[in-house]
Amino acid sequence: MITVNEKDRVFHLNNGRISYLLYVMESGQLGHLYFGKALNRSGSYLHMVEKAHRPMTTYIREGDLYTSYEHLRQEYPCYGTSDYRYPALEIQGGDGSRICKPEYQRYEIIKGKRQLEGLPATYAEEADEAATLEIYMKDALLGLELVLSYSIFRDVDAVARSVRFINKGEGTLFLDRAMSMSVDMPDAEFQTVQLSGAWSRERYVKVRDLAPGITAVSSMRGNSSHHHNPFLALKRKTATEHSGDVYGFSLVYSGNFLAQAEVDNYQVLRILLGINPFGFRWKLEQGEIFTTPEAVTVYSGEGLNGMSQQFHRLYRNRLARGYWRDRERPVLINNWEATQFDYVEQDLLLFAGKAKECGVEMFVLDDGWFGARNDDKRGLGDWKANREKLPDGVEGLAEKIEALGMKFGLWFEPEMVNKDSDFFRSHPDYILETPGRSASHGRNQFVLDFSRKEVVDAVYEQMYALLSTAKISYIKWDMNRSISECYSAAYPADRQGEIFHRYILGVYELHERLLQAFPELLIESCSSGGGRFDAGMLYYAPQGWVSDDSDAIERTKIQYGTSFVYPLSCMGAHVSACPNDQVGRITPIETRGNVSYTGAFGYELDLNRLSSTEIETVKEQIAFYKENRGLIATGDFYRLLSPFEGNFAAWEIADQSGSRALVTVTRLLSEVNGPYRRLLLRGLRKEQKYHVESRYLSYDAYGDELMQFGMMLEDKSSGQVIDGSGGCQDFLSVLYEVTAVR
Ligand code: GLA
Repeated sequence: MITVNEKDRVFHLNNGRISYLLYVMESGQLGHLYFGKALNRSGSYLHMVEKAHRPMTTYIREGDLYTSYEHLRQEYPCYGTSDYRYPALEIQGGDGSRICKPEYQRYEIIKGKRQLEGLPATYAEEADEAATLEIYMKDALLGLELVLSYSIFRDVDAVARSVRFINKGEGTLFLDRAMSMSVDMPDAEFQTVQLSGAWSRERYVKVRDLAPGITAVSSMRGNSSHHHNPFLALKRKTATEHSGDVYGFSLVYSGNFLAQAEVDNYQVLRILLGINPFGFRWKLEQGEIFTTPEAVTVYSGEGLNGMSQQFHRLYRNRLARGYWRDRERPVLINNWEATQFDYVEQDLLLFAGKAKECGVEMFVLDDGWFGARNDDKRGLGDWKANREKLPDGVEGLAEKIEALGMKFGLWFEPEMVNKDSDFFRSHPDYILETPGRSASHGRNQFVLDFSRKEVVDAVYEQMYALLSTAKISYIKWDMNRSISECYSAAYPADRQGEIFHRYILGVYELHERLLQAFPELLIESCSSGGGRFDAGMLYYAPQGWVSDDSDAIERTKIQYGTSFVYPLSCMGAHVSACPNDQVGRITPIETRGNVSYTGAFGYELDLNRLSSTEIETVKEQIAFYKENRGLIATGDFYRLLSPFEGNFAAWEIADQSGSRALVTVTRLLSEVNGPYRRLLLRGLRKEQKYHVESRYLSYDAYGDELMQFGMMLEDKSSGQVIDGSGGCQDFLSVLYEVTAVR
């Protein structure tokens, strides 16, 4: 998958469907040639280098009026020579100079893929699944070695990149900017696509036109954030969901990030992705190594949906890992929206008993079970059962849940502390705060300094004690505030720029240690809903709570946006009570079920409060999900109608052999006397006959008809009330099962 033209020093990564090409310039810098649909000739491709003699240009050599880095597409641009665009690397040496000119030394090709120490990353299970090119560069004056790593996958159209810096000199170096990747695209005729929002409206899809200058999304909050996801895509203006060129850039990281597109004045487009350089400064002493997080770049010639399918395949199969990666996820019930902090064991047993009767497989006890936690003002940090609520401790409750025939799961917020807690009283110096300044709180809580080993150890010990005595099969790992006043008392002044990153490394380490000790533990990540829903977390937690907004109509948007990068197998999606907790909306229970099937399914309500008809529906939903969860977790996902663009949200999950598909169509608001509607399906076999079955409709049709003429939506009355039952027809969702007829 990797070929090298030694004469022209051109490197070509090619898996038969995509190509990535770079070369060594005469000056020793690395230049970018091409990224996109495969180019299958052998040869140098150096004719793709565009350069021109332009006024007001700075050249790198006397007598040479052509070689300016400003006008050459770079591979990993550095600050300080003749390129005035934002660089991928900025480093300061002992003499205060910020100029860096690394030169090519050598390359290595490795079968498979190396892991990144202490960081989440995609992986190859067998050596021939991926090939890795490592390019060694050196700045002799600084004594800096950098290794640019590129892994191409055999079965997925993605290239994973990261950079390793090694101080091989005598002095100290400071990395001020160390992006995971940079790519200079030859033109800027693209739009950017970002996933942005806020608490309870995470990952809304936003498309922007590019113009000269900067378009960027970022986080400085310590978590990847509700506000912007660590992802950016480029789409040709004519590209759609299912056709046209799209490039996706996703960072496998959970902390501060920057994803930036810069269009220069000659229409060259630079994409940078990595740790946010704002406030970042990493001291690299002699012999020390710094590794950037991994950035994954995907090319799709089949539109945005094609890009998503590549991410889904890679992240589901070769980023998620461990015991739960390929296992069916349990249907769970969580007590948070039903009880908040107000419960005792007896309530929980009644709650769980009803859930068991309906077919739920795991009961998850949310916030409030520990310390003096009766509200959000106290208790965080004291990970021991509150005996007034749980007289037999967590062990006792877990035993009782297991005796009911269900697994038991528990909520933690390991990185946080309330000042009103025994943990804080014994370790008042364990929080992130700037000496001499007051620390801001979020939800009355403070952030533990996870850059310090002793802090991570102290939390680990408490969690280990509980996990090794009680039968806990799952934890919901929450993180309910952003970081502020980020300063660690344990590090010297010139290392304070490292703390945000060290914090995340501490979070990853705690995850890793728990998984080593309890390999069968299922972790669901959460950060006030979707505040840390990123590829980094997916390496440890194969599922995540998508959003605190559990309203089905809101969820059509949130899950639709989330699916741009993240596979359904990782999207925690639950049926919650009505009126909904966040928006007060009342939706049919069928709609709530249909929307929640698109992920790791569960309930977020007290089933004892439902009517007997609703309970029958719940039983049917659970049985349906259990039958179909294999398809839901591993099928190809197709977005068909965007809730951001109209009154419908529609998507399809089709198994790869085209033998069965589930299609969910949710009409947001009722409409009167609307048009006839059909939906063009995807991923079916043209010549295959299928049976289409839904709540109102049952017919047979061939694959080509369903994909070319469309599947008829049952609204035969052209938008009038269908049921004949009267009543409000807003928020109607219909699930269609499309099954090959033998
Ligand atoms: C966060 C989570 C919720 C719930 C509460 C408990 O908001 O996103 O699901 O766990 O914390 O305090």
